[in-house]
Amino acid sequence: MFKERVFSGVQPTGNLHLGNYLGAITKFVALQERYDCIYCVVDLHAITVWQDPAELPRATREVTAAFIACGIDPKQNIVFNQSQVAEHAELGWIFNCIARMGWLNRMTQFKEKAGKDRENASVGLYSYPTLMAADILVYRATHVPVGEDQKQHLELSRDVAQKFNNDYAVSIHAHGFGDAFFPLPEPLITGPATRVMSLRDGTKKMSKSDASDYSRINLTDDAEAIAQKIRKAKTDPEPLPSEEKGLLSRPEADNLVGIYAALQGVTKSDVLRDYGGAQFSSFKGALVDLAVAKLGPIGAEMKRLVQDPAFIDSVLAEGAGRAQAIAADTMKAVKDIVGLVRR
Ligand code: AMP
Ligand code: TRP
Repeated sequence: MFKERVFSGVQPTGNLHLGNYLGAITKFVALQERYDCIYCVVDLHAITVWQDPAELPRATREVTAAFIACGIDPKQNIVFNQSQVAEHAELGWIFNCIARMGWLNRMTQFKEKAGKDRENASVGLYSYPTLMAADILVYRATHVPVGEDQKQHLELSRDVAQKFNNDYAVSIHAHGFGDAFFPLPEPLITGPATRVMSLRDGTKKMSKSDASDYSRINLTDDAEAIAQKIRKAKTDPEPLPSEEKGLLSRPEADNLVGIYAALQGVTKSDVLRDYGGAQFSSFKGALVDLAVAKLGPIGAEMKRLVQDPAFIDSVLAEGAGRAQAIAADTMKAVKDIVGLVRR
């Protein structure tokens, strides 16, 4: 009943890394063949924690450059930054009135990001998931490729859509939208690297904010840095197992095999068929070669693209115009459904 459409977002908060690439951006690229896709640099989400205003525009342009360098075609898809389409924030407000305190209180990302000093977290950080629901639903998107860590937020987006459809069912029907105005967006969390772990600690997620740069491979790292980080990555003393179940309770081995599989576009079993019994020193050598071959050209292209901010800004402006045309239609309908008088 709903037109199939993909939406996803990435925050411009520094250091894009291998987790972002394998968990999200490679999926974005694959999906553009089959779907209408909208890819957004979510700068309004970024400012839920402090961002230096002298740095934020650079980070927004860098994520845009990463999208393009990884193979997202901004002509075929819509690529833009969130703050240029005011409808995200507008629908976010409506969703703040739909979502319940109890739902937000359960969000683990808020608990992690707010830490011990919860009283001092911004209100925006708390209501972050309702803005995320608005990002998706302002385009009535049906599919959302994300890493594993976003699963709970996606569930909340579905709950918001469902409650809006229920609460306003009579009005939705009266305005000619049938039984449901919003689709229940489906998360697409697939493949061997939906949760890439830190290279220093296989039980911690690879993250932009980890103090140690050795914990992650940044998309802008050169061949030398990639090689060094992989060689120094934590492992255990055993050789690689020949079957996937041998990776249980070996988080570092599991992580490196998952990274190899995702970069190569195969399964972990395939990798273990080739490397079962191998020592980490030789497996790491193969992983360095693969990672440098895949990531090297992306980093180089990103660096080239960010030299031309005027080009990046023209991509974002054009994308924002196309996005807004869709978002504005949704907001008109939402206002009618909710009973807000409009021009
Ligand atoms: P963020 O940088 O938090 O905006 O994340 C952008 C996308 O990358 C989201 O879809 C995340 O789920 C995904 N992502 C972030 N870190 C990882 C990770 N360590 N492994 C897999 N996916 C990740
Ligand atoms: N919360 C996501 C993250 O931190 C980013 C995001 C914002 C997003 N809005 C979204 C992802 C909408 C998918 C759909 O990774």
